[in-house]
Amino acid sequence: MQTELSNALGVEHAVFGFTPFPAVAAAITRAGGFGVLGAVRYTAPGELARDLDWMQAHTDGLPYGLDVVMPATKVEGVTEADVEAMIPEEHRRYVEGLLDTYDVPPLAAGEASGWRITGWMEQVARGQLDVAFDYPIALLANALGSPPPDVIARAHDHGVRVAALAGSPRHALHHKAAGIDVVVAQGYEAGGHTGEIATMVLTPEVVAAVDPLPVLAAGGIGTGEQIAAGLALGAQGVWLGSIWLTTEEADLHSRRLTAKLLAAGPGDTVRSRALTGKPARQLRTAWTDAWDDPDGPGTLPMPLQGLLVAEANSRIQRHEVEPLLGTPVGQIVGRMTSERSVQAVFDDLTRGFERAIDRINRIAGRA
Ligand SMILES: Cc1cc2nc3c(=O)[nH]c(=O)nc-3n(C[C@H](O)[C@H](O)[C@H](O)COP(=O)(O)O)c2cc1C
Repeated sequence: MQTELSNALGVEHAVFGFTPFPAVAAAITRAGGFGVLGAVRYTAPGELARDLDWMQAHTDGLPYGLDVVMPATKVEGVTEADVEAMIPEEHRRYVEGLLDTYDVPPLAAGEASGWRITGWMEQVARGQLDVAFDYPIALLANALGSPPPDVIARAHDHGVRVAALAGSPRHALHHKAAGIDVVVAQGYEAGGHTGEIATMVLTPEVVAAVDPLPVLAAGGIGTGEQIAAGLALGAQGVWLGSIWLTTEEADLHSRRLTAKLLAAGPGDTVRSRALTGKPARQLRTAWTDAWDDPDGPGTLPMPLQGLLVAEANSRIQRHEVEPLLGTPVGQIVGRMTSERSVQAVFDDLTRGFERAIDRINRIAGRA
């Protein structure tokens, strides 16, 4: 699975793995892929430095990347407290009502609410970059739009390629104009924030739109056969996120959540604004249903929704409240049926890719 891009980056397989867990990112890189650590959860620069130190020590000198969530437009002088103050009382009461209905206990005294989704704030993401450029990252990816021009320039000064996710050919063209090096064409079936175009349709359109920039196909890829399909559509690699969530190296902090993922089928996800205020594919739960309920107040726009539900989500996760317990995950969740090491997943991907190539060769009369 080698392409011009994987050769340029010095990786054995053109398989890019996004993950919020350093142990998973390092294992992807060690397995011959390209591990990309999601930085959005790191609000303290010291924690990111600690985990990048760990990555550095566990990747055998092989390349890896970092993913930040940085908005392209700058909002001057707005603090988290300013944003908190914009949340309506009705929505706060709705959250409290849901937590009461499902008997969700509070966090213990002194236990901090973990998942505040503030990494999207430009000043937080810039703090992450100040740390990241001290490490030999080979790729900087951005989730929501092109990063600001000075960040792209700074990355290039450090010899770091810049990637950005795109959910439509229009987004992809915008990235190209902004000076992005690699476009991740992420389809509707993907876990996390997604657009409305499926990977099968999106990938060749983005490839054509940004030619000659390299494109990675993302969304709904969890087998070697699907990797072959993405490469056949013109991508120079694939970008996988969901499949790593049930690996042995992942640290979901909840056996119940892992069990829910292993039991879920491809129809058990929903594209909902419940988590951040923007449509993100995740496990369908009583929580997502409550936010989609026409009798409820509905969700707030990003970033208000993320701040509104941050503590509630921490309580749900901490106490593993079954009906509400969820995570971003894509439709490929149906193929995540056992807990395996990252290396075992990789071996499977490689075997499936070879099967697909053999099959196509036979069909084409070349075998
Ligand atoms: C749990 C989870 C968290 C994610 N968080 C981010 C993120 O912070 N930044 C980002 O660029 N993409 C994020 N994504 C999307 C992935 O980068 C990737 O595009 C997507 O998972 C690919 O589709 P798949 O889930 O079908 O493999 C996330 C995906 C998942 C499953």
